[in-house]
Amino acid sequence: MNTTPDLSKEFKSIFNTTTTPRKFFAPGRINLIGEHTDYNGGHVFPASISYGTYALGIKRDDQRLRFYSMNFPDIGVIECDLSDLAYDKSHQWANYPKGMLLYLKAAGHEISHGADILFYGNIPNGAGLSSSASIELATGVLLDGLFDLDMDRIDMIQLGQKVENQYVGVNSGIMDQFAIGMGKKDHAILLNCQTLEHEYAPLSLKNHVIMIINTNKQRTLAKSKYNERRAQCEEALKDLQAKLSIRSLGEFTKEQFETNKHLITDEINRRRAKHAVYENARTLEALDKLRQGDIKLFGKLMNDSHLSLRDDYAVTGLELDTIVEAAWKQDGVLGARMTGAGFGGCAIALVAKDRVDEFKKNVNAIYHQKVGYDANFYTATIGDGAKEISKEC
Ligand code: GLA
Repeated sequence: MNTTPDLSKEFKSIFNTTTTPRKFFAPGRINLIGEHTDYNGGHVFPASISYGTYALGIKRDDQRLRFYSMNFPDIGVIECDLSDLAYDKSHQWANYPKGMLLYLKAAGHEISHGADILFYGNIPNGAGLSSSASIELATGVLLDGLFDLDMDRIDMIQLGQKVENQYVGVNSGIMDQFAIGMGKKDHAILLNCQTLEHEYAPLSLKNHVIMIINTNKQRTLAKSKYNERRAQCEEALKDLQAKLSIRSLGEFTKEQFETNKHLITDEINRRRAKHAVYENARTLEALDKLRQGDIKLFGKLMNDSHLSLRDDYAVTGLELDTIVEAAWKQDGVLGARMTGAGFGGCAIALVAKDRVDEFKKNVNAIYHQKVGYDANFYTATIGDGAKEISKEC
């Protein structure tokens, strides 16, 4: 996550042109609380961060598409035709922009010509900060701008999710694309994932900052385990629906869950469903606490969220647990939890500003001793959602 290189210069050199490209940016996201609730029709509470994906592009006169990522220079320029956007394994990362193009066209948007597009991302890969949704939305705003599509933002967000679900094959919910598409500087978004109703809450953390801690553990099993958790929740819901009229686990209160949990026949599925219901309740409570300025209780809800993800949802693992449990022990920490899908990736912690250096040193020492390598620490800055930035730099 260093300073941004001269992207326009790189663009001109890679695509051998003198035309100055238009420049777009889509952030990554953290989720403050509300994990694995989005595909269960519950609430999430994410915020977009200042790290993300830059996309620079110009229209071409013909139907060719050329993609280049400064993050994968060895792969070089990936080319295809506007009429052939099918998933192609050999196109690797470029399948994300290709998927967006395919679904945008299928939704009736007129992409009249090809384009040359350069990407540069400063979100660490596989860190669970949604680098893939960030590429999808960076492509979305770029195409919207270059081809004057005047797209509805929610449509763009839903197309991004469709790329993930149908093109790439991860059964993810709407949270990442929504946070990235709708982010607002210094605010978190409380989103009802069933209705897409949302509200912004100012992130006033007094003398605390949000630290992002990357475990540097790649999320190797993430895709299959993620889809498995989703299937387990769907089975639990089916059991409940045999007797009750309920559309999603997100509709249940904790009390309703306790009264009816015996209807879920499999014990593991019951624990997964419990997490979804209790986490949703915690998320709503967290918004209240933040609005009341009670960040101490907000932090406590973060801790409870992690315990539930560890014990009932089983998506944490040694690396995330080591980081979070080490964070809990430090002075000046109000709360800490994993963020995103889990199975590695990042944790977040609410840390007093004057304790940050000590926090990094102590947590990393414990982590290194137990896991054998270092974690990385970043102070989160909450920025705007995806947009054109040609005039900003
Ligand atoms: C991933 C998915 C999201 C959400 C989180 C877990 O980030 O892309 O849709 O399910 O995991 O909360």
